[in-house]
Amino acid sequence: MTNVEVEVRGLTKTYGNRAVVADVSFNLSPGTVTGFLGPNGAGKSTTLRMMLGLVEPTAGVTLFGGRAYRDLASPARTVGAVLESGDFHPRRSGYNHLRVIAALAGLDEHPIGGVLATVGLTKAAHRQVRTYSLGMRQRLGLAAALLGNPQVLLLDEPANGLDPAGVAWLRSLLQDFTANGGTALVSSHLLAELSQSVDRVVVISEGRLLADTDLKSLQDGRSLEEAYLALTSGVTA
Ligand SMILES: Nc1ncnc2c1ncn2[C@@H]1O[C@H](COP(=O)(O)OP(=O)(O)O)[C@@H](O)[C@H]1O
Ligand SMILES: [Mg+2]
Repeated sequence: MTNVEVEVRGLTKTYGNRAVVADVSFNLSPGTVTGFLGPNGAGKSTTLRMMLGLVEPTAGVTLFGGRAYRDLASPARTVGAVLESGDFHPRRSGYNHLRVIAALAGLDEHPIGGVLATVGLTKAAHRQVRTYSLGMRQRLGLAAALLGNPQVLLLDEPANGLDPAGVAWLRSLLQDFTANGGTALVSSHLLAELSQSVDRVVVISEGRLLADTDLKSLQDGRSLEEAYLALTSGVTA
């Protein structure tokens, strides 16, 4: 796998006259899990959508190995993403959902069994998605993101709906991914959920970048939760 550096440069999104993301820049390095933290409404999902070209930035760019997402030769083989609103056809099975995604992305079907096993959905593969729990839907979204064996993973609130065993499972999945040179960005509004899974954190609040650092520096002798709250409560509307 070729390592892919991700550069986010000056991303800005304005709705009306309100900047929901304001001049956000950070880099993601291969072999690293970066936590993307901030309270609800901070602008995390909007930033991730801009990175993928799903929301047109008012300003700024994101480069994956030097190229914008839309200029990648094979996007699904470079970047896998799970966004918040997983939309699944309720009557389709997990397996068929992945078949459709693979076909749309021009990927062959043979990795489907493999990614289902990776996310622990082998037994549920032929059940309709409407019978899946929130945690199982998160796993299915992750399976879809992994289909192209991407070098970059962008996950929006992936721990949402996972039980503690699921969070531990996600952590080991991310560790395996980055041990092989993968580059990962994982958002959450809860630092505690991610604190054992990430190497670095990028913190935003009200659309602005507040910190881009390793966990130790953020902590600065305090508990991580204290450090995070102190940082994000200092911002007023
Ligand atoms: N299409 C839109 N039009 C207007 N405001 C939006 C739109 N999408 C998001 N917002 C606003 O942008 C802010 C950031 O939202 P979001 O990126 O979803 O934050 P987060 O993911 O950190 O919770 C919120 O106040 C939200 O209401
Ligand atoms: Mg969000």
